[in-house]
Amino acid sequence: MRKNIVAGNWKMNTTLQEGVALAKEVNEALKDATPKCDVIICVPFTHLASINGEINQEKLGLGAENCADHKNGAYTGEVSASMVASTGAKYVILGHSERRQYYGETSDTLREKIALAFENGLTPIFCIGEVLEERENETHFDVVKKQIEDALFHLSAEEFGKIILAYEPVWAIGTGKTATDDQAQEMHAFIRGVIADKYGKEVADNTSILYGGSCKPSNAAALFAKPDVDGGLIGGASLDCASFMGIVNAF
Ligand code: PGA
Repeated sequence: MRKNIVAGNWKMNTTLQEGVALAKEVNEALKDATPKCDVIICVPFTHLASINGEINQEKLGLGAENCADHKNGAYTGEVSASMVASTGAKYVILGHSERRQYYGETSDTLREKIALAFENGLTPIFCIGEVLEERENETHFDVVKKQIEDALFHLSAEEFGKIILAYEPVWAIGTGKTATDDQAQEMHAFIRGVIADKYGKEVADNTSILYGGSCKPSNAAALFAKPDVDGGLIGGASLDCASFMGIVNAF
């Protein structure tokens, strides 16, 4: 059966020293804990190797927030999937709405990134979600379905089974405006249906679908109680150990 997962997305926050300190704090908090979910932190590229040296990945998984859409070569400033894997990281967030919005990521580039993540043994945490206008004009289901179809439906069932999905309504990210637990459940159930139509019920039932967007300790329990919400992708609230652990312990 699918796993419950709480994953932090630190975005472009913390210096190396601050990031290592935060990772150590979370690692320490998990040391003697038995959370009812897997716990992951996705951190800036510059922090990966150092943090890998400080945490026990049996208890706290480590991931990057992006990787390049090329294997290697003349792509100044890019960081490849093999570089990410060589730090000891096991996960990579792909298709985050901030990457789509500010850095022009499309389903074409995302298909390349997913292939390279797989080649290097990384588990993609793949983000989908509509913008406010799409929700208001009620195209949100179509938009999310198309994001999944375009970027993922060329995969075999076995490959698809390795992906963690994160539904993040863009209007809820960093805005303090969380989707209600019913809105999250409605979309997560829809997504699971889309997966079932393509890959069958077993693959759909085994896919972890995380909710992201202003998730915090005060609303996490209600969201996670929904049958199709398998955890969260946490931005702002993952930058403080107590609030991140508050969300982990919401399960
Ligand atoms: P937020 O970000 O929790 O700060 O809204 C979530 C995300 O973008 O992954």
